[in-house]
Amino acid sequence: MDRHNLRQPEAEVGALFVDRWSPRSFSTEELTDEQLSSLFEAARWAPSCYNEQPAHFVYARTAEDRERFCEALMDGNKVWARNAPVLLFVLTRKVFGHNGKPNRWAAFDAGSAWMSLALQARMLGLHAHAMAGFHRDKAFDILGINPEEYEVMAAVAIGRRADPSQLDEQTATKEVPNDRRPLAEVASETRLE
Ligand SMILES: Cc1cc2nc3c(=O)[nH]c(=O)nc-3n(C[C@H](O)[C@H](O)[C@H](O)COP(=O)(O)O)c2cc1C
Repeated sequence: MDRHNLRQPEAEVGALFVDRWSPRSFSTEELTDEQLSSLFEAARWAPSCYNEQPAHFVYARTAEDRERFCEALMDGNKVWARNAPVLLFVLTRKVFGHNGKPNRWAAFDAGSAWMSLALQARMLGLHAHAMAGFHRDKAFDILGINPEEYEVMAAVAIGRRADPSQLDEQTATKEVPNDRRPLAEVASETRLE
């Protein structure tokens, strides 16, 4: 597992949480069917409001499909994400199946599912890097989905990490793990501090 000096836990925590980060240097090595199933299986077990399971992952893994998905990415992401062997979009269904009412927790639940996938990726020796930097309208076009029914929450690049020397100069400066706010700022007892 990767170890990074910047990411010093302030309390006892499972190594997996600190070990997950978002690199940009991906190897083109393909994912196996088993790896892919394992990622989605992890996402499947995420909790959700009314057990609605609103998250859905649409993925691309052939060169042709990845290129098509890349067209929706903003340039700053396109430059590095096109190397990743799997690109996907995280969708969430906006309406509850049981009563047709708007699901205010759909984004929250898709977040849980994506995080499960990202942690499972680390357990497989892979990395998953989420992106908000995509053109929403293009994503709807490419995926052929109805914006009344689904929201596109994020794009995600998944793969094995490669030597960062393959990155262009500008992207290479970003290839460092991010630190976190102090633990004291994350939670407070009885009221917002
Ligand atoms: C919803 C979401 C959107 C993000 N959008 C982008 C993006 O467009 N481009 C990018 O390079 N990183 C993006 N990131 C990665 C974050 O910048 C990164 O997760 C954050 O800085 C914490 O760093 P870490 O994941 O390495 O711990 C995104 C992450 C999330 C969860």
